Amino acid sequence: SAVLAPNISSCNPPLNLPWDEREYNCCASVPSYEPELFRPTAPSSSAVVRIRRPSHLSSDDYAAKLAKGYSLMKELPDDDPRSFTQQAKVHCAYCNSVYNQMNSSELFQAHNSWLFFPFHRWFLYFHERILAKLLCDETFALSFWNYDHPNGTSVPWLYSATSDRYSILSTAERDARHDMPTSTAAMDLVLVSDDRTREEQLQENDNTIYRVMIRDSYAPEEFFGWPTRQGENPMSSSLSGTVESHIHNNIHRWLGNKSSIGWKDMGSFYAAAYDPLFYAHHAQLDRLWEVWKTIPGHMEYEDEDFLNAEFLFYNEVGEMVRVKAGDASNITMLGYSYEDVLLPWIEAVP
Ligand code: C2O
Repeated sequence: SAVLAPNISSCNPPLNLPWDEREYNCCASVPSYEPELFRPTAPSSSAVVRIRRPSHLSSDDYAAKLAKGYSLMKELPDDDPRSFTQQAKVHCAYCNSVYNQMNSSELFQAHNSWLFFPFHRWFLYFHERILAKLLCDETFALSFWNYDHPNGTSVPWLYSATSDRYSILSTAERDARHDMPTSTAAMDLVLVSDDRTREEQLQENDNTIYRVMIRDSYAPEEFFGWPTRQGENPMSSSLSGTVESHIHNNIHRWLGNKSSIGWKDMGSFYAAAYDPLFYAHHAQLDRLWEVWKTIPGHMEYEDEDFLNAEFLFYNEVGEMVRVKAGDASNITMLGYSYEDVLLPWIEAVP
């Protein structure tokens, strides 16, 4: 059967913290009510569609708005489930396995299996709704880090520590050599990435994305990751899909601070979502899911245990809700879309 929403009434210390890391608590506050199932409904024809655009093409107005949203989020008291700290902790809770699965003694883990894409889509959905609420702007959408386009490979300017206008969108815990307008993100991160010329890296990036999106991901297992069901721990019994294990992990590690324990923020599960760029990185991966779907022959999972898998999130008014993986697959129902951009790699047969 499907992995049900985690049992949050008991919470364990995070698993797999880097060996020298201090103790860390990422348990969510437990509501006094039974979280209700939240199901997206078809938007009316007059409803706003929130359009996620490439981060590097952000206007000054958008950058200022995003920065404002994050400063409002960071000003919320730490124990408000919508605060920036609590948002980062959600990621830790599902990645460092602090909860058991409901009706099972096995831990809940949202990575390394078919739960990866729907979990992160829902996480971003609520994160975006919270920012929109704080900004009182229904049209507000996250942006995506468009590193599969040659103009989008650096840390997007508004998120960069080198641009001091929007320091709220940055973190001190980054690899400073990589957080530069001239640096090219390595989607295939290897030891020699830093020795490559920009041209060489762009070529490797095209090859990498072609492989993970087309050559090696024809079947849903290959793209989304392999199944995980109630009572199973994906870390030992499943496998991640191509995007998660390559682009996803590599960009995390590429950006994290190599002099900090566990290469935090981005290089470490528990700390990753403390970097605001985490959300633009995941919006990009979420967009790649949409791109993959448009490629002929690609079919999504229809397995009931996939569709019925569940997660818990606090929504924009601070109420905890339960959601299903299957309800994540249609972004029109979720009220957002991605701006179409060119996909130069689609012709880049390696
Ligand atoms: Cu939950 Cu990028 O990881």
